[in-house]
Amino acid sequence: MKFIRCKNYEEMSRVAANLLEETIAEKPDAVLGLATGSTPEGMYAELCRDYKDGKVDFSHVTTVNLDEYCNLPVEHEQSYRTFMNVNLFDHVNLRKDHTFLPDGNAADLNAEAVRYEKLVADLGYADLQILGVGRNGHIGFNEPADTLFVDTHVTALKPSTIKDNSRFFASEKEVPKRAMTMGIGTIMKAKKIVLMASGSNKKEALTALYSGVADSMIPVTFLQMHPDVTVVFDEAAAPERKN
Ligand code: GLP
Repeated sequence: MKFIRCKNYEEMSRVAANLLEETIAEKPDAVLGLATGSTPEGMYAELCRDYKDGKVDFSHVTTVNLDEYCNLPVEHEQSYRTFMNVNLFDHVNLRKDHTFLPDGNAADLNAEAVRYEKLVADLGYADLQILGVGRNGHIGFNEPADTLFVDTHVTALKPSTIKDNSRFFASEKEVPKRAMTMGIGTIMKAKKIVLMASGSNKKEALTALYSGVADSMIPVTFLQMHPDVTVVFDEAAAPERKN
């Protein structure tokens, strides 16, 4: 694992944008695995700026997002499709029909999970997967549990995640209780992974990356088994190296 310590959120965003742009420069038709949340917003802003300045071309890129809420209308301002439109897709020359998220409103959610997993597999999995991390160590919506799902699946959100995400909704009651997410296996099949973290509430999750243990109660620790992970973090999130 490579750890890149940044001064602040702005520098973290710039470094992550550079890594993503390097992937597109090497492979113009790259498959990018994308994430939502407040962590990557600054990186998306950098990508939009660079696109405007003619520094990056998304015309051959395909994107696959990690997750989507279940039973939240796709046009809702907090759906992850809306997040991606507002933060990236509406501002760059990505073909909308080359942007994929799970359909959290499908009539048969289990069938949709199987379809999405196959779609990502047929694309050859992500060339680069961007990840944030939950305060409790979740990645995508792979929440702490005794066992973790390998493939895309429907999952119940932990009360702590509902609470954390309630800042985006009018009240905690309005946060969807379920989501569809790539599994740990879908994520681990990405060729490269860039994990981003900002703020002191992520310090504990990053510190667990030094544990040498893959602990399903801290799903991010599974990344220790991936051969190409770069962790980009700011001062406040800096892990404490215990060994
Ligand atoms: C959300 C998302 C994750 C994200 C995480 C952290 O619930 N499903 O993909 O990484 O929580 O969010 P934030 O970046 O806002 O701290």
